[in-house]
Amino acid sequence: MSQLQLSKDSWSSQTVFIMAAVGSAVGLGNLWKFPYITGENGGGAFVLVYLGCVLLIGIPVLLSELALGRAGKANPVQAMANVARENGGSRLWGLLGLNGVLAGALILSFYTVIAGWAVSYFVDSLKGVFIGIDANAVGEHFSGLLANPYELIFWHTVVTLFTVIVVAKGIKSGIEKAITFMMPGLLLILLVLLGYATTTGAFTQSLNFLFAPDFSKLTWQAVLTAMGHAFFTLSIGLGTMMVYGSYLSKEYSIVKAGLWIAFADTIVALLAGLVIFSIVFANGLEAGSGPGLLFQTLPVAFGEMAGGWFFGTLFFALVVMAALSSAISLIEPAVSWFDQNWGIKRVKAAWILGFIIWTIGIGTVLSFNEWSDLHFLGERTFFDSVDYITANIMLPLGGLLMAVFVAWILKDDVRSQEIPLSGNLMSVFIFVLKWIAPIAVMVVFSTNLVADDAVVTMVLITFALYAIYVWNAKRDKS
Ligand code: TRP
Repeated sequence: MSQLQLSKDSWSSQTVFIMAAVGSAVGLGNLWKFPYITGENGGGAFVLVYLGCVLLIGIPVLLSELALGRAGKANPVQAMANVARENGGSRLWGLLGLNGVLAGALILSFYTVIAGWAVSYFVDSLKGVFIGIDANAVGEHFSGLLANPYELIFWHTVVTLFTVIVVAKGIKSGIEKAITFMMPGLLLILLVLLGYATTTGAFTQSLNFLFAPDFSKLTWQAVLTAMGHAFFTLSIGLGTMMVYGSYLSKEYSIVKAGLWIAFADTIVALLAGLVIFSIVFANGLEAGSGPGLLFQTLPVAFGEMAGGWFFGTLFFALVVMAALSSAISLIEPAVSWFDQNWGIKRVKAAWILGFIIWTIGIGTVLSFNEWSDLHFLGERTFFDSVDYITANIMLPLGGLLMAVFVAWILKDDVRSQEIPLSGNLMSVFIFVLKWIAPIAVMVVFSTNLVADDAVVTMVLITFALYAIYVWNAKRDKS
């Protein structure tokens, strides 16, 4: 039997762990992506599907992923191999971890580019560029930034360096420090912005847009996006929560942590949405204007409100920090895999991976200017393709397989030790993992069959894997 690769790091307390996990979950997904995809997909009905996915698929998968990490005690590839061996599953489960390591690198490659926009906005805000600015001027400012690949590459580089340096320092001194003071600050500014939003005269319209569902606007493609986003925003399906769980000691509660993570994450997204759409409607802007939405709306608010310079500068600093605490968590699965399985020390691993990811990120930079007419997956630009493959395919597939593992393969006593739910709740939990979550993911995948060839393959693989494992589990039990 080969040597188990154990994570030696650990969180200094339950609270620090929850903060780090919330820090991972709350990021550009909440502040930047959620508002813009909600705008593109018509609002209320999309939000409802997203919330449903968080509740029915997201939370169960989140708990499962944390449990797999703690039980497997290693990076995602090794953790899956470990739990598979200990619970009589195939070694191929390690591939699930590999899917995550890859997806993490791909997501991070565009994540640092977008976070770079936020750094550039932080500097501009500090310089007073947004004081008294109107919606048109902000729009021009943003297009100007996107049109300049060198500037984008510069900020992309800054963020990548930041990420690498924090990750290289390791769990206790790096990740924990970066997070503990950031979360409360972010919430505070969002509340200040919420106050401003109520004065725009479009607050009710914004509320309606987000919470009054109009199902005629909902397409199957939108349902896939909403489901993918539930995975993206909770940082699940990849192995982030698995690595974080592997640093978690036995006496802490995964259920409590999981519920906090989901709650905090959802609140931040909804607040950001409310604020941004109030500004959109008050200024006659386009809700579906895409990835620029956050960057074309908030400076307007800061330009108008009292104390705007201060709050604006602080806000963009916090966006950057929220992005950093997520960025770290995107690269951590790969770093700990390099470290534990390949003997490449943390510092070196962080730099090597950082360089690879930075290089892929150039594709995203160019997709906003030089390559904007270049299509990769269907009609999608490089950035849209990477985003689509990761959020809409790799994460749901990863999450589905985690659910399947915990429901069908993990031994009952291990499961109830990791996730101690009372009798009835446990039955519901297992039922959701066994049937609701996997079938929901597969149905959403299948409905997109017609639209996309790449998905056809994924769906067939998924169905096949599901059949094999269910069959396997049945056979083992008889
Ligand atoms: N959840 C983060 C956000 O909303 C992004 C993120 C960090 C992530 N780690 C992840 C997404 C792991 C998927 C998987 O911005």
